[in-house]
Amino acid sequence: MSREDTPTPHIGGKYDDVAKGILVCGDPLRARHMAENYLTNAVCYSEIRGMYGYTGDYRGKRVSVQGHGMGIPSIGIYSYELFHFYDVERIVRVGTCGTFSEDVKLGSVLIAMGACTDSNFADKYHLPGTYAPIADFGLLRSAVETAERLGIPYSVGNILSSDSFYDAPDQTDWARVGVLGVEMEASGLYLNAAMAGRKALTILSVTDNLVTGERMKVEQRQKGLDDMCRIGLEII
Ligand code: HPA
Repeated sequence: MSREDTPTPHIGGKYDDVAKGILVCGDPLRARHMAENYLTNAVCYSEIRGMYGYTGDYRGKRVSVQGHGMGIPSIGIYSYELFHFYDVERIVRVGTCGTFSEDVKLGSVLIAMGACTDSNFADKYHLPGTYAPIADFGLLRSAVETAERLGIPYSVGNILSSDSFYDAPDQTDWARVGVLGVEMEASGLYLNAAMAGRKALTILSVTDNLVTGERMKVEQRQKGLDDMCRIGLEII
């Protein structure tokens, strides 16, 4: 699987259209926003299902940005095709999350060292136990160093990748084992990276506190998203 299998069923680009380091995000319009605002010479390589993908330059480095949709099955498809068909080496997901912790501030960045899950995505591999999906240490270390250098407030820790957004079981129970926040994709991305022998990281902008009900205000929101994208682009 690779060059001759591109374009794929879900990504319209040819093999060489996609950079070896790619930032992915749930919302395809955020991918377009990153291409238009942070990249130079950006070229759109995919519009299939409106899941835009662009390749351009960030400070002299060739980078791609692409949407991945919502939930583990969706990021599972995009990350699989990127790793196996386009030989992408590094995927950094930039997304949003809710937090369970008082110490994790709205508008800050949460870097996901590990990702628990209530999904059974890993069951297909019939592992003799429970797999612990983790980030690539080199990308994680670079993200922390970059946040420090840019003065961006951040936390590092374990998160939950949940299959449910609505009518979820009480997710705050996860706080008892130190889980800091919840989103819906990182665990699938980390598992796919491990199966492909490639690197992945998830960087999240904290948009709401699930314990206090506090939500990020509109003005705060763009700053948090920009901080997260900036870290991603610097390290990819
Ligand atoms: N759950 C899942 N994904 C999210 C949330 C949430 O509460 N907030 C932002 N992304």
